[in-house]
Amino acid sequence: MTKYFNKMESYKHALKYCLIFLILLPGACREKVVDNSPVDARVSQLLSRMTIDEKIGQMSQIDPSFAGGPEQLKKAVRDGRYGSILNLFGIEKVNEIQKIAVEESRLGIPLLIGRDVIHGYRTIFPIPLGMAASWNPEIVKKAYRISAIECSSQGIRWTFAPMIDITWDPRWGRIAEGCGEDPFLASTLAKAMVEGIQGDNLTDPTSVAACAKHYVGYGFSEAGRDYNTTYISEPVLRNVVLKPFKAAKDAGALTFMSGFNDLNGVPASGNEFTLRQILRSEWGFKGMVVSDWGSVTEMISHGFCANEKEAAFRALKAGVDMEMSSFTYAGNIKQLLKEGKIDQELIDQAVRNILTVKFKLGLFENPYVQPDAQKQILNPDFLEHARKVARESAVLMKNKEKALPLSPKIHSVAVIGPLADSPRDQMGTWCFDGQADNSVTPLTAIKEVLGADKVNFIKGLQYSRDINKAEFAKAISLAKQSDVILYFGGEEWILSGEGQSRGEINLPGAQDELINELSKLGKPLIVVVMAGRPLAIGNVLEKADAVIYGWHGGTMAGPALADLIFGKESPSGKLPVTFVKGSGQIPFYYYHNNTGRPASAKSWTPMDSIPVVNPQSSLGYKSFHLDYGFTPLLPFGFGLSYTTFKYADLKLSAMSMSASGSINVSASVTNTGEMDADEIIQLYIRDRVGSITRPVKELKGYKRISISQGKTVEVEFKLDAKDLEFFNGKENVIEPGEFDVWIGPSSVEGLHGEFTVQ
Ligand code: NOJ
Repeated sequence: MTKYFNKMESYKHALKYCLIFLILLPGACREKVVDNSPVDARVSQLLSRMTIDEKIGQMSQIDPSFAGGPEQLKKAVRDGRYGSILNLFGIEKVNEIQKIAVEESRLGIPLLIGRDVIHGYRTIFPIPLGMAASWNPEIVKKAYRISAIECSSQGIRWTFAPMIDITWDPRWGRIAEGCGEDPFLASTLAKAMVEGIQGDNLTDPTSVAACAKHYVGYGFSEAGRDYNTTYISEPVLRNVVLKPFKAAKDAGALTFMSGFNDLNGVPASGNEFTLRQILRSEWGFKGMVVSDWGSVTEMISHGFCANEKEAAFRALKAGVDMEMSSFTYAGNIKQLLKEGKIDQELIDQAVRNILTVKFKLGLFENPYVQPDAQKQILNPDFLEHARKVARESAVLMKNKEKALPLSPKIHSVAVIGPLADSPRDQMGTWCFDGQADNSVTPLTAIKEVLGADKVNFIKGLQYSRDINKAEFAKAISLAKQSDVILYFGGEEWILSGEGQSRGEINLPGAQDELINELSKLGKPLIVVVMAGRPLAIGNVLEKADAVIYGWHGGTMAGPALADLIFGKESPSGKLPVTFVKGSGQIPFYYYHNNTGRPASAKSWTPMDSIPVVNPQSSLGYKSFHLDYGFTPLLPFGFGLSYTTFKYADLKLSAMSMSASGSINVSASVTNTGEMDADEIIQLYIRDRVGSITRPVKELKGYKRISISQGKTVEVEFKLDAKDLEFFNGKENVIEPGEFDVWIGPSSVEGLHGEFTVQ
């Protein structure tokens, strides 16, 4: 009996301790939310168990170099002080720190490991501006899938891509990272990029969270000077700048990044209008917002916040969930809460957004990287795809008397120029992890095609900015001994990208002089420009027989360019951005509004034609520059081919549509040349009269189609009235009236039709 009572006693004790334990375990006794989706329920359950410090920890992201050392980082993770780490990579390192988060921190919340994987991880694709020139969302999506497979194999499950800032300014170094000037093209590519990065199933270990950046307006930095102020009217914001972000949100982008810029007087990381009203409330974005590096504290320099406490307050109120690499949240949120300046729900919502991303990625189930994933790096199929993307991105700008393609049987070529054999430069900006050793340069690829003995190589200039002409004589002599001159120039990678804006966007160094010398030799001169921005290359276009714009084409730029030079395929890329004659013409974008005094060829008075002693006269009184005229160097959508295409038979399924209807617009396109090739067929419209002035043209559709030699394809576009909607300063409207429509090969050519909206 005593034994029995002793046993009962010990059961009672056990029960008592169990109860105390359950009460002490925060939230453990709370009822689980069962009427939500599983992720919501798990988030709520976990949130209910978190202390305020753990919550603030989730809202903080750190770069290990700021942690005070590896042991300090480990301790902080163990204490739940970080929700995410950026720039930590490598299987062992990631697994080690993740193990601490999962097994040694109180709640075992896995870390989100982030990194900039902008256009490839180890297999480097062309810079995004180059990829945009392919006008091929399918290959772009695959490029980003490959990037995700490679980076996730090293533990990265969050990338700060896609960068989808529209810009009108080639001086801005970050033009390289985006999709160019057009909201429609950029939106289709933003969708492709997000889908590629995130894959079909978020919990797959190769799925990576995308981050649409930089929200928003950063591409409008005044004078193209990085981080500069931006002023954007609401119609331009909504009709242009926000479009690709909306597309990224609709494609399911899990995260957004608030930018560095001050937009109409309010910094992006403290901007309630863009973050709370537009992103969250109008668009219903449920994901997480991270601030760009230090942009929360930078609100102090902007003169928008007096101190870090106010910066934390403003950012949190605006809707920044996680702070990147500054620590105003860690230092101030608790106090702000205590003072009643913010309420608990604001913090909880931010943490909820962060945890949701982690649950959606399956990090709680599979926090670790599998070591065998490493095999996925630089897989030959990936490299083949990089070659294809680089090929489709290159734009043929000039081809006088069919100077290209060259016969692979040619006896000798002179390969000259600072970028002919510059493995790092061809990778372009923003590739932390790409390795120059993996790049195949044009020189290597050309030698591969022709045999090394037929290639006479000299750089002529050692790097793109070089002004030392010591090698000019040798370069000229080698050129004289060769049948054809191939010049590879442009910009070093470091001249574009973050913080790398230029005032003048000419070909740097003595490159123009070298090209001038080479052009005097009476040999075919082919110039390939490899650059991170659209350069003002008027001189090159004048002096060279053929020009290919290859951008910074990535790891496989060399073989891709050789494929085009020797005619394995025709160039097929088209410009995603207007090329200007010089910096003074900026901004120049094809969808500008009309002036009251539009210029024409007849009305332009070129500066040199003005008599020296000129009596006051009108000089036309039209909208042009005396020196540049009124047209750009090359228009948006432009790109030549080795073959020719004939556009005919524009047809409209109806002459009018209702404000909820649609019409089909079609044309036939015939390959009238001598080679199978792809053509990028573009659909533009113009809304002739609006409640606010409307752009002279707007891209509303495009298709890249392979057309065999001699064949004709019928191309049809469906134009919904919804596609004609725009924000007029007060609301979104589809306004009745007359519209022009064009189907053509660029923004300045095409078959014309018209229709009305009732
Ligand atoms: C600053 C850049 O603006 C942003 O694009 C990038 O993702 C972060 N740094 C992290 O490296």
